[in-house]
Amino acid sequence: MRMIDLIEKKRDQKALTEEEIRFLVQGYTRGEIPDYQMASFLMAVYFQGMTPEETAHFTMEIVRSGEQIDLSSIEGIKVDKHSTGGVGDTTTLVLAPLVGSVGVPVAKMSGRGLGHTGGTIDKLESFPGFHVEVDNEEFIRLVNQNKVAVIGQSGKLTPADKKLYALRDVTGTVNSIPLIASSIMSKKIASGSDAIVLDVKVGAGAFMKSMEDARKLARTMVEIGDNVGRKTMAVISDMSQPLGFAVGNALEVKEAIDTLKGKGPKDLEELCLTLGSHMVCLAGKAQTPEEAGSMLKEAMNNGKALETMKQFIRAQGGDDRYVDHPEQLLTAKYTMEVKAKEDGYISEITANEIGTAAMMLGAGRATKESEIDLAVGLVLNKKIGDSVRNGETLVTIYSNRSSVTDVIEKVEQAYAISKQPVQPPVLIHDIVQG
Ligand code: URA
Ligand code: CA
Repeated sequence: MRMIDLIEKKRDQKALTEEEIRFLVQGYTRGEIPDYQMASFLMAVYFQGMTPEETAHFTMEIVRSGEQIDLSSIEGIKVDKHSTGGVGDTTTLVLAPLVGSVGVPVAKMSGRGLGHTGGTIDKLESFPGFHVEVDNEEFIRLVNQNKVAVIGQSGKLTPADKKLYALRDVTGTVNSIPLIASSIMSKKIASGSDAIVLDVKVGAGAFMKSMEDARKLARTMVEIGDNVGRKTMAVISDMSQPLGFAVGNALEVKEAIDTLKGKGPKDLEELCLTLGSHMVCLAGKAQTPEEAGSMLKEAMNNGKALETMKQFIRAQGGDDRYVDHPEQLLTAKYTMEVKAKEDGYISEITANEIGTAAMMLGAGRATKESEIDLAVGLVLNKKIGDSVRNGETLVTIYSNRSSVTDVIEKVEQAYAISKQPVQPPVLIHDIVQG
């Protein structure tokens, strides 16, 4: 087989066979196929797409390029959740203990934040002592013991994806639905869960800006799951503004704890209950999402969800006393308020700019090597649709530097105020099932 023939075949809009896809993914991972040929192939995929069968084969070859985690010694049906990435997306911090508390095992591998989006691992490290470097045996033991463990992504999973993603990043081929879908699904499949719930974000702050693209991405990923025998479903949720109020690591931990007590922001709670209900159903612990939703609500109200959070923080070496006193995690030296300059209704809060403002304070990483400051970030006081008076607080800034004029400017750019009343956006746009 020759790579040039496969490039031409894709260029001419023909579908590749399983063997051809294996040849190019494994050959590229081993360094036998050069970057320039793979770059050309990726650009052909960008324009010509891939069939559902090609996408499934492509995904499974990425899975086979590295280690695959065997979770079969964890009792029960393991359900993973993945979000396509957003700003202030605190859902995993809530969902892992919440779903675990009703007896569904959650074996979660998470990433660190990069750019304007945060990572669950960084947020959890707000608890002094919490560690995420755990080997597979210990990971399985922790999940069997507490129903929940959240650890760092193993470096040995999907090496093909690492190489392909780095190449896509510099060749204008990131934004291709089959390539995004196979990249995300390969990592979920390699990390060993039986079923997958996807949170596909749509809106200005997301990868997918339109409902049409979000639906296409959701359908492509659900189809991959079906094709390879992992039950998969997707919720399409709004990212036209940040989720909840808090953006920043310890601030989001506090927001997650409030939500586990049933006292969190309504949008964050609704999304967590929606995603959580589907996880509980896929795990076979409830017949309908409504039944599952009541189980989860009850766990919030009777303290079980919070207790599960404490157990799993403690089991991974974290100081769980902060679960009862999360305000003590907020050690930023200064707080400042950004105020509205006119009366009206909030019509826009660009999630990307809010994420960038948090990053400028030190809550996120500009590069992979950057150190982050866990205490800093932003708390939104107004969301889209709220009425506002001149001089009212839009956002509180938590900072460790005394001058934040650059951040204030960014926040002001993110907000728009209209004279006319504005409808708050719908949070759950659609559900895509196999
Ligand atoms: N996230 C991924 O993991 N891969 C992509 O290609 C895009 C987003
Ligand atoms: Ca949030």
